[in-house]
Amino acid sequence: MEKMAHLLGAFNAELPLERASTPPPTWYFDSEIYRAEQELFRRTWQLVGGLATVEKPGDFFTTEICGEPLLVMRGNDGELRAFSNVCRHKAATILTSSGNTSRLQCRYHGWTYDLTGKLIGTPEWRGVCDFEKSSQCLPAFELQTWGPFIFVRLEKSEQTLLEYLSPLTDQNPAIGKMKMRARKEYTLRCNWKVFVDNYLDGGYHVNTLHPALATVLDYSNYKIDLFPESSLQSSPTVGNTAASSVRGGMAYYWWLFPNLMINLYENTLDTNMVLPLGEDRCRVIFDYYFAESVAPEFIAKSIEVAHQVQMEDQDICERVQRGLKSRYYPSGRYSVEREKACHAFHQILSRKLLEICSR
Ligand code: FES
Ligand SMILES: [Fe+2]
Repeated sequence: MEKMAHLLGAFNAELPLERASTPPPTWYFDSEIYRAEQELFRRTWQLVGGLATVEKPGDFFTTEICGEPLLVMRGNDGELRAFSNVCRHKAATILTSSGNTSRLQCRYHGWTYDLTGKLIGTPEWRGVCDFEKSSQCLPAFELQTWGPFIFVRLEKSEQTLLEYLSPLTDQNPAIGKMKMRARKEYTLRCNWKVFVDNYLDGGYHVNTLHPALATVLDYSNYKIDLFPESSLQSSPTVGNTAASSVRGGMAYYWWLFPNLMINLYENTLDTNMVLPLGEDRCRVIFDYYFAESVAPEFIAKSIEVAHQVQMEDQDICERVQRGLKSRYYPSGRYSVEREKACHAFHQILSRKLLEICSR
């Protein structure tokens, strides 16, 4: 605990942007910070996927939050539920990937559960004493939806889903008309915060790192708005290139503390969830949503454009993680013109970690 207090004290969240320094590099690889962040993630709504992938009874998909294998499934009663995807026998994960099924059967020894997570079959189980099938359900988690999105929370906390999503919910009625059509996952050799920092630098790296994207964004009109636990970067789009053909209208880049990013363009949006896999590894899940009227060629092109940008971001994030381990890098500073959202992220994180630490 003492070490944690010392680490957290090394970032002064009270300093204004023009005088502030970034958190010390240790925040990006220390195991105690990582453990406290895991607790934070368990208490925060996490976007797990799109409603369009689980429309019919028996539709399911699997995912993980904080290393917890999860199963999202629509039951025969039409209810959407989230369960632990860990078999109550010997802990094998029960289902993999996604699909449709009439029952949940563990591939290891064949235990079966119904679509509400109730244990219904235990082969070759005669003679076992003090065992109640009814007490061996798959643990269920809170699940709520908003627009085309499904959110799960592992542990209860006061924040409602609408509080978490506000003010995004007040300003974007078009989101409700979008449908999830594709998912792409990336594993990065960097701490999850490196990816968020990169996202929140107010377009600072666009001209140098993303030459194709730079032709689409009207960088001189890039705007940054801060909210209590989220921020919005926005920019008009311009140009007449392959990238701009799938990135029309205004570009809105929403970030919701701690790990959700929603990129909105005309007729299309993609969500980026960054999930920690360890102190220096993370997974970024890109889900692609489109308006119903959008043609398949537009979808393919749109995913290709995002993939190219992600490759450029991934490379720089991994190089940053290596640099953070340098003994000769104490900490950095923020651009007042560009990096206020990144600074706000560090201030919120610092406050939340101090709260966890004082519990
Ligand atoms: S671990 Fe699932 S049936 Fe044995
Ligand atoms: Fe980028």
